[in-house]
Amino acid sequence: MAKGYYISKNMATAAMVLGAIALLTIIALSIVYNREKSKNAAKLMNVTTSMLAPTPTSNELWDKYRLPDTLAPQHYNVTLWPHLVMDANGMYVFTGNSSVMFTCLKKTDLILIHSNKLNLTLFNGRHAKLMGLDGVTAPAIKTTWFQTETHYLVIKLNGNLKPGKSYWLYTEFRGELADDLEGFYRSEYMEDGRKKIIAITQMQATYARKAFPCFDEPAMKAVFHITLIHDPETIALSNGQEIKKENLNIDGITVTRTTFEPTKKMSTYLVAFVVSDFTYINTKDKKGVLVRIWARKKAIEEGQGNYALSITQPILEFFEKYYNTSYPLSKSDQIALPDFKSGAMENWGLVTYRETALLYDAHMSANGNKQRIVTVVSHELAHMWFGNLVTLKWWNDLWLNEGFASYVEYLGADHAEPTWNIVRFKDQIILYDLQRAFAVDSLTTSHPLSRKEEEVNTPSEISEMFNTISYSKGAAVLRMLSEFLTEHVFAKGLSNYLKHFAFGSSVYSDLWDHLQKAADQTSGVKLPRTVHDIMNRWILQMGLPVVTIDTRNGNVSQKHFLLDSQAVVERKSEFKSNILYASQAIHEPMKVSKGEWVLANLHASGYFRVNYDLENWERLLSQLESNHQIIPVVNRAQLLDDAFNVARASIINITLALRTTKYLLHEREYIPWQAALRNLNYFFQLFDRSEVYGAMQAYVKKQVKPLFKHFGTLTSNWTMVPSGHTDQFTQIIALSLACGTGVEGCRDLTKSWFRRWMQNPHTNTIHPNLRSTVYCIAIAEGGAEEWDFGWKMLQNATVAAEAVKLRSALACTQVPWLLNRYLEYTLYPEKIRKQDATSTIGYIASNVIGQPLAWDFVRANWDYIFKLKRFQKDNAETGFGSGTQALQQAIEKTTAKIKWLAENKEPVLRWFISESS
Ligand code: BES
Ligand code: ZN
Repeated sequence: MAKGYYISKNMATAAMVLGAIALLTIIALSIVYNREKSKNAAKLMNVTTSMLAPTPTSNELWDKYRLPDTLAPQHYNVTLWPHLVMDANGMYVFTGNSSVMFTCLKKTDLILIHSNKLNLTLFNGRHAKLMGLDGVTAPAIKTTWFQTETHYLVIKLNGNLKPGKSYWLYTEFRGELADDLEGFYRSEYMEDGRKKIIAITQMQATYARKAFPCFDEPAMKAVFHITLIHDPETIALSNGQEIKKENLNIDGITVTRTTFEPTKKMSTYLVAFVVSDFTYINTKDKKGVLVRIWARKKAIEEGQGNYALSITQPILEFFEKYYNTSYPLSKSDQIALPDFKSGAMENWGLVTYRETALLYDAHMSANGNKQRIVTVVSHELAHMWFGNLVTLKWWNDLWLNEGFASYVEYLGADHAEPTWNIVRFKDQIILYDLQRAFAVDSLTTSHPLSRKEEEVNTPSEISEMFNTISYSKGAAVLRMLSEFLTEHVFAKGLSNYLKHFAFGSSVYSDLWDHLQKAADQTSGVKLPRTVHDIMNRWILQMGLPVVTIDTRNGNVSQKHFLLDSQAVVERKSEFKSNILYASQAIHEPMKVSKGEWVLANLHASGYFRVNYDLENWERLLSQLESNHQIIPVVNRAQLLDDAFNVARASIINITLALRTTKYLLHEREYIPWQAALRNLNYFFQLFDRSEVYGAMQAYVKKQVKPLFKHFGTLTSNWTMVPSGHTDQFTQIIALSLACGTGVEGCRDLTKSWFRRWMQNPHTNTIHPNLRSTVYCIAIAEGGAEEWDFGWKMLQNATVAAEAVKLRSALACTQVPWLLNRYLEYTLYPEKIRKQDATSTIGYIASNVIGQPLAWDFVRANWDYIFKLKRFQKDNAETGFGSGTQALQQAIEKTTAKIKWLAENKEPVLRWFISESS
């Protein structure tokens, strides 16, 4: 299905622009899975369950994943030396030593400290040395060993540590500087024909223990004194500013020792260090805070860091105001790394990024890439306060940390790019968070936002917390909360909360307390119930309500919305009382007189879907067709998305949902088009092998023609880009959908652009915004010559944003052997970087011809892809991680789809046929 695929390609790129990173492997699996479900479901399920971490049965403290409350770390002195050349065994290693000063809180003869995969030097047969402070004599160490399952270095003492007294624990160690994207790791890249190696860290959530022995829990905050030893040609960075640099001679080699200012009191998962030969650009903000952007020399020379530098200050200033708290550190470094597992990481004072999330090239990057950068930077900088200054006590509350940053990232970005605000830039949250959360939260396999502390223990359980529910539902319910409290009250409560818990940790209800106080102190804010009461309904039960409004009698009712209405829900959601909030957002009374319509959930600020009686639906449809602009942009998008999903749940007729797309003939706004595209795309994928496909193509072609014409005129026949920020996104939709459905002139136009580039590879005249779409069309329509050209350009690409466009477009080919060869390339990190392997398989799997090929490939290489899993958010040890949930979701979605298809195929076919003529 070349045609539908153009759309999904673009969609995929656009969808990745914002929000939490998708589990692309699983997306790939879920797509492929649709076809193969019956044959292979059992097999996949086995993999899932067998990979769950075992629960320890022993009662010994070292068999428990959580640290006992006997000791509290205060300071660490950590010295690390990453060796960036291979040793005699062909390995890359780092060496180091660390002492941690801790205070004893409760009498104990046992020290448990996290240490994973570290090789500790022995002192008198022990792994560590212990000293008492202030004249206290430390008990002798009896025995030491590693408890590998729980990642502890266990130290048994001959006597007790005394409450109130402090001790130093000293260790020396060596670890592998692997290319596994976790803990202290190495990354390799080519520059000027030479291989370069850098050492970097990724500690969240449980990898600091791979770099040095530490009390690796977020509430165990301490001050870190960090020293790095490195080649004099390289630069060392860490959370604090470098305060001393001296050259030493160790074993006949000259090295540099860089000492950093002590950090503030902080969690281990936010520690970071980098050794590289990168360079930087910088500015100082008004208060003297040093702001630097670091990257490969070439990238900085080409100005790729300039955009990030220009937005960092406004974003920091915005958050200082919003939180009413100064930036807590003396500097802010942000660094772009060639190999990075997630999109970005909020290490305090040294934020790490994937190159595409920080580097912008004026000639190569699209508007979407720019938006991605400003939102990711905003997200990570938001964490400098929310998450870093005040940290959630345990990972069960991760949703609040990530959901919060995912909400306020829009506010910070909006401030940095005020001219993008023409059609409320911030409203894109409904596409990238609200609707995205709805999609998984309407399955029985969903789960409540909030988990009990006891439910989250193992690294695997912690890793599962980084999911769409935490990020996107978290963002959506906080936006709802902020809107009903008013932004002013929300920000006031927030700033009191930050002040109260600064340098410490909290639980979610602490935030509710402070918001409640702020509401109580503000006149004019009257809540129907307490913040606790209102919010707990949204965070303690899973799912979302569908609110049904009957305008004939004014009845408003609600129930748990499930895509598969017959599915059995094990975690029951009552949804009795969310209506309290729902009805607030709706403005009663709901009874209307003839001709009037009711529209609920203004600006989609509530976390629920809305359904109406048929007459009201009819009135809304005719309003859309006669003058759609009366209905706010966001609600146009939401009406569409609600109608399609309520129909997928068999609550209303599918033809009613399809009719919401008729008015698109007149629609010129991005958010409704994008919502429509997603829902239509779902249909394209559902029907891509049936006769419905042709009829649907014809209908969508008819609907998109005016949009295609509109942009042709607006851009003087595609020679310019529209000036409006989101209009530039709509232009891409117009092009991809028009070419995908065969609107006359579209494919010839795009193919001619690509051909021109092939003839003159040094001058690419295709506008960066349109490149993803144009490359994909040309490669899909072409053969090996086009593919090989694209591959060559990918090898030559020095801008990460350009590389992604090519890498995704190469998956558009319709030639099976090219797709198979491309799949093979994902096994070779020198061809496709590890960080990019799963997304590449995902791209191929969303091509109808690639689906079965990707499926066979994934099965054949299961071990490489899932056991090594070096490029995923979870590692082999943490089991399937968030993959477990994603897989369950895929299975449930597929089951619902099969049932629905059987009942709806005929009416859908008839509708498309009647509407496309
Ligand atoms: N803290 C996360 C990074 C992270 C994710 C670490 C998963 C460990 C596991 C960071 O703040 C984040 O959320 N990054 C996002 C990008 C953001 C703009 C949504 C990411 O990496 O996808
Ligand atoms: Zn985050």
